[in-house]
Amino acid sequence: LKDIPLFSDLDNDELTELKKVTVTKTFPKNTILFSEGDPSDSFYVIRSGKVNVGINDEEGREVILSILGPGEYFGEMALMDGEPRSAFVMTKEMVRLLIISKKDFKLLLSSDNEILLKLLKGLQKRLREANKKIESLALMDVYGRVARLLTQLAGGSGEEETTIQDKLTHQEIANMVGASREMVSRVLKELTIEGYISIEKKRITIHKKLPYEW
Ligand code: CMP
Repeated sequence: LKDIPLFSDLDNDELTELKKVTVTKTFPKNTILFSEGDPSDSFYVIRSGKVNVGINDEEGREVILSILGPGEYFGEMALMDGEPRSAFVMTKEMVRLLIISKKDFKLLLSSDNEILLKLLKGLQKRLREANKKIESLALMDVYGRVARLLTQLAGGSGEEETTIQDKLTHQEIANMVGASREMVSRVLKELTIEGYISIEKKRITIHKKLPYEW
């Protein structure tokens, strides 16, 4: 547990206590862990694998708010504010999760200020990311949004050739940038023709810095 950033400041006694109340479970790819609006009963920490956090509208269209991976956590919001789940969480691949019940999560929070502070920092990080997303939805066209997303997923400055490790379908990219699949396909095709990217087996390689404005 010590290697999970959220728990890294706990002392040995606290870690032993925590171990007693966590359950580890493995879920296959594409499992819905919970839906938006569900009542909440647990807090989750990702041991391995990745999950999509997202929301659906009435027509079943999906917006992916974030992709979370090893060491990250979810499900804290509904436990802390007592509201229903703010988003759905679905596994993107096989995932191993540590699960803590609502009761034990609350005990942990009341006994440890460091954890509370870390959760607050995590919330601020997510708010900053959400602000960026609002900015790109309000001010950028689909080319710019796709360019920014790919640069972010590649994890670098975008200056050097990088391959994005995650396999991405056009639909998934569309769900992340708030555009139609058709539009995203058109943008990716154009980026390929102009030599910015190449795609092999759903893995995208960025060859040169993608402009956010066209
Ligand atoms: P909760 O509302 O309990 O259930 C959905 C979870 O998704 C939520 O807690 C957060 O842990 C997580 N979540 C919600 N919105 C975002 C976001 N914009 N970025 C990352 N994670 C989020």
